[in-house]
Amino acid sequence: MRILIAQSTEEFGALAFNEMIKIIKSNPSCTLGLATGSTPIPLYDAMAKDHAENGTSYKNVTTFNLDEYVGLPKEHPESYISFMKKNLFSRIDIDMKNVNIPNGQADDIAAECKRYSALLEKASVDIQVLGIGGNGHIAFNEPGTPFDSKTHRVQLTQKTISDNARFFSTIDEVPKSALTMGIGEIMRAKKLLLLANGKNKADAVYNMIKGPVTTDCPASVLQNHPDVVVILDQSAAEKI
Ligand code: PGA
Repeated sequence: MRILIAQSTEEFGALAFNEMIKIIKSNPSCTLGLATGSTPIPLYDAMAKDHAENGTSYKNVTTFNLDEYVGLPKEHPESYISFMKKNLFSRIDIDMKNVNIPNGQADDIAAECKRYSALLEKASVDIQVLGIGGNGHIAFNEPGTPFDSKTHRVQLTQKTISDNARFFSTIDEVPKSALTMGIGEIMRAKKLLLLANGKNKADAVYNMIKGPVTTDCPASVLQNHPDVVVILDQSAAEKI
């Protein structure tokens, strides 16, 4: 595990971008695993800036997102597909046919999970971006999720619902469940890029890096992956 600590938001984005661009340059038809949340925004800003300034093309890039809320219309500003369009896809030349994200509005949620798992099984994700929850979750894999899990529906914990309430006008609007890529599928990516900032992530970051490998802290499974880069700001790094 390689751990890099950024001194500013700009450096945080630049360090993460540096890992991404190496992959895209070495294979313009690569497959990227993407994440939502506030943490990857500096990375997406850096990718958009580079596309505008240097013309890096994403025409042949395929993407897989980690998760999506269940029941939120795709057009809702807080759906994860809306987040991705706003923060990245509308700012680069990606072909939306190559974008994959679980469909949280599917009539048959179990069938949708199987469809997404089957796509992931055929794919080979070159780099997977990850955030971390205050409780150590990765994607929406909450504590207790088996390490070999595949795409599944989760009931969000009260902690995750209250963490995400800041994006909605009231806490009651936060969806109570989501579809998430499983931990087993995340671990199949060739490289993992975990990003964390803020004091509220410091305990989870400590447990991920220094704690035992246990489903109590889903992110601790990263200790079992051969190629992980962790990028932190100083607050998230304060306990390691
Ligand atoms: P955040 O979410 O980037 O909005 O903090 C990360 C996560 O909960 O995985």
